[in-house]
Amino acid sequence: VVLDIDASKGNATEFTVAAFVETNIGRADDGGLYAELIQNRAFQEADSYLSIPGWTKVGDRTVLMKDADEPLAALQNSMQIWVPGNETEGLRAGLSNSGWWGIPVKPQTYKASFFAKRAPDSPLEGTIQLTLSSTTNGRTYASASLSAQDVTVEWKQFHATLTPTESAPDANNVFNLTIDVTKHDQGLWVNLVSLFPPTLNDRPNGLRKDLANVVKDMGAKYIRIPGGSNLQGSTIANGYNWTATLGALESRPGRLGYWVGYQTEGLGLKELLDMCEDFNASAILGVYAAYSASDQSVPNTPQLDKYIESAVNELHFVLGDPATNKWAKLRADLGHPEPYHLEYVELGNEDYTSTTYDYRWERFTSAMSAAYPHLKYVASADLTGAPVVDLHDFSGPDAFISSFDRYDNRPRTGTKVLELENAVITTNSADPFGDPVSRLLYPTLQGSLAEAVFIMGMQRNGDLVLGTSYAPYLANVHATQWTPNMINFNATHILRSTSYYVHQMISKARADTVHPTTSTTSFGPLYWVATSANSRTFFLQVANVNSTAIPLSATIHNIRVNFRSPSPKASATVLTSPLGLNASNTMDELDVVRPAPLAVQVLGNARGVSLSAVIPGYSFSVIRVDV
Ligand code: AHR
Repeated sequence: VVLDIDASKGNATEFTVAAFVETNIGRADDGGLYAELIQNRAFQEADSYLSIPGWTKVGDRTVLMKDADEPLAALQNSMQIWVPGNETEGLRAGLSNSGWWGIPVKPQTYKASFFAKRAPDSPLEGTIQLTLSSTTNGRTYASASLSAQDVTVEWKQFHATLTPTESAPDANNVFNLTIDVTKHDQGLWVNLVSLFPPTLNDRPNGLRKDLANVVKDMGAKYIRIPGGSNLQGSTIANGYNWTATLGALESRPGRLGYWVGYQTEGLGLKELLDMCEDFNASAILGVYAAYSASDQSVPNTPQLDKYIESAVNELHFVLGDPATNKWAKLRADLGHPEPYHLEYVELGNEDYTSTTYDYRWERFTSAMSAAYPHLKYVASADLTGAPVVDLHDFSGPDAFISSFDRYDNRPRTGTKVLELENAVITTNSADPFGDPVSRLLYPTLQGSLAEAVFIMGMQRNGDLVLGTSYAPYLANVHATQWTPNMINFNATHILRSTSYYVHQMISKARADTVHPTTSTTSFGPLYWVATSANSRTFFLQVANVNSTAIPLSATIHNIRVNFRSPSPKASATVLTSPLGLNASNTMDELDVVRPAPLAVQVLGNARGVSLSAVIPGYSFSVIRVDV
C-alpha cells in the first residue's frame, strides 16, 4: 500500500482518548482504585450476624451482632463484639476481615483506624490488638496494641500503624481486631474499621498506587467521572447525591450501588477531582439528571427544582469563589481553595432511553450555563442542537470495522461528538448483548483491532469527534458484573488488556491536525489515519485486520522542513501477536500481548519525508516521525 500525506492541508482536531473512572461497576472504586483494604468497613452490607460480607468472628463463642441502635454519625450499622460468659479465657475475641478478596502484605506502613465505644457499666480491660496475618502460613506479619481502657461510652476514633518487615507469600491475609478475654459478658461496638496502605502521592483517603498508575499511564487529558448507570442509580432515591460524598468518612452514608453491593463513597467527588489533578487531566463531570437507570424521571414540575439547584451547586463546588459561595467555601475548607479545571459537564447518562430528556436538558442546562456559560454541556443522548453529544457503542468486531466511515457521513450541524463508551464485547456483531456464548471475558486482539479501526475513523473526523473512551474501564475479577473490561485486577495483580494498549498508543499520539491521505488502494484490510502535532511531529496510525503482512510506504509532502535538522527521526510501535485474533491478556497470562517496536525506514529530503515499514498481519501500529 502506498500513501501520500499532504502536510500542508488538514482539519484542526481536538480528538483525544479519554479515561472513564466509572464508580461501582466491577468494584472499580471500593475494592479497586480506592485504596481502602477493608471490605465492608462500615457494615453497610451486613444482612444479619450470620452474613457480614468480608467479616468473620475471632473467638470460640464470641458473637458479632449488627446493631442499628448504635449508629456512628451517618453510618447506621455498628458491629457489637460480645464476649459471652462461656468464652474461653486467655483467648482473644473480635473480628477478622479478609479484604477485597485478599490483602497485600508488604514491608511498608499501613494506617489502621476504627471507631469504638462500650456499654456504660462494662469497662474493658487488657488490650485491643490489630494484626495482619497470613492464612497461608499462619504467621503474623505486623501487629499493634492499644489500651482497651481508652474505649469509653462515647464513640472515639483510634489510630495505629502496622509495619510488616517482609512480604507475605500471597494475598491470603487477614486484618484482625481483637480484645483480651479477661472478663466475660463484656463487649464493645466498632464502626468504620479502616486500613490503608501508602497511597498515590501519599494522599490521605487516597488511591491504590499500582492500579492508579495504570490508569494514569493512559495519559488521558480528560477523565469521565463518576458514571455510568451508577450516576443514575436504580431508582430516583438511589441516584448520585454528590453532597453525601464529601468530608469526614463517618458522615458519608454510602449508597446502594447500581451494579453491586453498597458503596462507601469514600472515593467521593473531591477524591475523584483530586485524582484528575494527580493524573494531569480534567474531569468530564457527569451531573445527576433526575432520571434513574430503570427509566423513572422526576416530572417537569417544581419537584425538579432541587435537582437543578443541586447540579448548579455542584458546579459552584468545583469552580466557584470561596469568598462568595458556600459550596466553593466547602471545597476550600476541604483543602482545595483553587477551583478545579473543568471544561465538560455531561447531563446524566444514556438518556436516549428516556422520553423526558428534552425538558430536563432545557431546564438543567439553562440554569448551569447561566452560572457557568464557558462550560461545554454534553447531552447523554443524540439531542438535536446540543453543543456536544455522548454516543455509546457496544458491539462485535465486524460492526466496529464497518463503523470506520460512520462519521464521514454525519452532517456538520455544529453539534460535536464524544464517544465516551465503546468496546467490542462479543464476536457476534448481530447480537451483541443477547448471545452469552460469544461475549468476551477479556478484550482480544480481534476486538481491540476493530476498536482501533473505529477510533481511526473518529480521528479522520477530528473536526467533529472530540474524543472517545473505552467502557467499562476497571473491574475486580472477583466482582465482575460486565465483561469485557479494559483493566482487570485482583488484590495484587493488574491486567492491561489489548484494548488498554490500543487506547494508550492512540492517546500518546495526541495531535492538533488531521491530514488528508490519498492512496491507490482503498481501505480494508489496511486502515490508516495521518495526523500531526505542532507541524513537527507526524503520526501515521495503521491497523491490519487480515492475517497477511502488508508492505506500506508513505510520503509526507509539503512539510515545512527544519533545514537545520534535515534528518527526520522515526520510531514505531506495534501491537500484534503470533497467536492471532484470539490473543488476549488474561489473569493467568498477564503479558502475552504488549506493544513492541516496529522497524521503520525513513528518508528526508527538501520535498518531504518518505517512510516504509512492513505492517504485520493482525496488528495495530503507530508510526511517529519528528522533523
Ligand atoms: O460501562 C458500562 C455501562 O454501559 C455503563 O454504566 C452504562 O452507561 C452503559 O450501559
